[in-house]
Amino acid sequence: QLEVDLEKSEKKYHAIFSNIPNPVFVLDIQTLTILDCNMSAESVYGFTTGDLIDSPFLNLFRKEEKNIYAARLKTDTIINQAKHLTKTGKELYVNIRVSLSEYSEQEVLLVTTSDITKRLEAEQQLIQASKMATLGEMATGVAHELNQPLSVIKTASSFLVKKIDSKQSIQEDILTTMLTKVDKNVDRAAKIINHMRQFARKTDKAMEKISINDVLVNAFEIFSQQLKVRGIAVVKNMSRTLPKIHADPDRLEQVIINLLLNARDAIEEKLTAPGKAGHEERITLRTYTDGGRVVAEVCDTGIGIPKHVADKIFEPFFTTKEVGKGTGLGLSISYGIVKDCGGTIKALPNKDQGTCFIMSFPVPQ
Ligand SMILES: Nc1ncnc2c1ncn2[C@@H]1O[C@H](COP(=O)(O)OP(=O)(O)O)[C@@H](O)[C@H]1O
Ligand SMILES: [Mg+2]
Repeated sequence: QLEVDLEKSEKKYHAIFSNIPNPVFVLDIQTLTILDCNMSAESVYGFTTGDLIDSPFLNLFRKEEKNIYAARLKTDTIINQAKHLTKTGKELYVNIRVSLSEYSEQEVLLVTTSDITKRLEAEQQLIQASKMATLGEMATGVAHELNQPLSVIKTASSFLVKKIDSKQSIQEDILTTMLTKVDKNVDRAAKIINHMRQFARKTDKAMEKISINDVLVNAFEIFSQQLKVRGIAVVKNMSRTLPKIHADPDRLEQVIINLLLNARDAIEEKLTAPGKAGHEERITLRTYTDGGRVVAEVCDTGIGIPKHVADKIFEPFFTTKEVGKGTGLGLSISYGIVKDCGGTIKALPNKDQGTCFIMSFPVPQ
């Protein structure tokens, strides 16, 4: 009877093991050879269980990463976003869970993997869509940025054409000045276009150690002309001794662009509001360290955020702007990006007028 019971129970557990929707592997703790695996390992990886059993688990990893993962499998309990290969050579992203267990009276590693490729692709699409939303909001501003160098080029070339048409001689120094201006402004326009292209480009999420000052300066680049045209002064007050933070520079730039767009709009709105004479239009970019964290502020002297609105601004689609002007996505996107970097973002009233957006990031050890 005992034997029958035991067999029954074994059958039961084997059925559970086989039907778990995620691949499960039993590995030899020393050699990492696959001692057993379940049915979903077949459907996910395309190998038969016969192929898999007695083969090295590390064969599922890319050649150049085998050594890294051999070590991690023995020490880590969770390995996220590892690349695995299927039988046909297709790459999968998997999260791996490792636990110590006993199997046929032998110490083994019990490894489960979950295929997160689809999820990562969906995330990627979401990131791309959010970039496009930001790009859309930037479009009118960029027209200003490009108009400025174009009008310099137009002025210089018209001047030269007029001189030539009326058969007047052109002094060499004037010619040099004009052509240098044209040359410089073509470079400036090309730089803006390249920057936009780079911004719109599809990229994998790439966390790096970066300087937040560089990101601020880069993002501000695309705004310099339109702010000047609108008479908005920009004050930079950035610490030169900041530690680097862990973030994706492209996505963090998207945050700063969103904050600058909002600051610009808030200042413009204040200008059109009645009875605001003698008001100063200013955006301040400030970075400093505080309690071991890196802090970046984007402050404006704009219209400010009314109290009853303050706790809604980070919600998706919340906007107080007219149709066509605001999407209500800027801050919710920014919130997500900052959170992904382990940081925080909040809005506070600026000292005398306007708003301060304050971001704080941990410093990686
Ligand atoms: N710097 C700011 N000054 C005043 N209000 C702001 C500022 N930034 C954001 N807001 C408020 O938060 C709302 C949401 O901002 P956001 O998510 O960027 O969407 P959008 O700019 O498209 O309206 C804005 O409509 C505005 O009411
Ligand atoms: Mg916005």
